[in-house]
Amino acid sequence: MVVKRVDHIAIVVPDIEAAITFWQDALGLEPEFTERLDAEGVIVAFLPAGDSEIELVEPIDEDGGVARYMRKRGPGIHHICLEVDDIRATLSRLKAAGVRLIDEEPRIGSGGKKIAFVHPKSTYGVLVELYETTPEEPARRLEVLDRMRRQLAIQGQVAAMGMVGFIRALRGRQHPVTPYPGDGEENGC
Ligand code: CO
Repeated sequence: MVVKRVDHIAIVVPDIEAAITFWQDALGLEPEFTERLDAEGVIVAFLPAGDSEIELVEPIDEDGGVARYMRKRGPGIHHICLEVDDIRATLSRLKAAGVRLIDEEPRIGSGGKKIAFVHPKSTYGVLVELYETTPEEPARRLEVLDRMRRQLAIQGQVAAMGMVGFIRALRGRQHPVTPYPGDGEENGC
C-alpha cells in the first residue's frame, strides 16, 4: 500500500461561482472540471494547483449530507483526498486494522475516479478520500463535460460561456443552501 500524493483538498462553499471567482482572481487557479452529482446533492469544481487540485463543493440539496455538514460547521475544508496505488488493498488493510470506513468497496466518484471514504472518527476528525487513478479517467472527465454541455445546450441555457457561466447553468434555479450552523447530524459525504 503506497500513498502517492495529496490528490485534492475539498472545500465546502455556499456559492461555488463566488468561490471560483475568488480562487481565480486571488490565486490564479483556473477551474478545469465541473460536475453536478445529484446523488450526492452537490456541484463540484476542480481547480488544478501544481500536482494537486482544489475541489470546491457546493451543496444543492438541503437534505444532503454535505448541506448538513455545512450547516453544522460552516464553510471550510470538507475532506482531503490521497492517491493510493491500490485502493482495494488499502481498504482491506484499513479494515483489518479496525479503521472505520464509509465505503468498504471502491465506487466511482466525480469524473470517473475510483474512490472510497474513510470515516473522520478514525482519522482525528478529517474525512479522508482514497483514490486510485484509472487509465480511462481523462476520457471520462471529457465525456462528463461533453454530456453536460449537450444537455445544457438542449435546454438552451448555454452558449459560448466560460466555466463559471457553465456552472451557473448547472446550478439552475436551485435555492442556495445557507451555511448557518445548526444541529445537522454528522455525515461523511
Ligand atoms: Co473529493
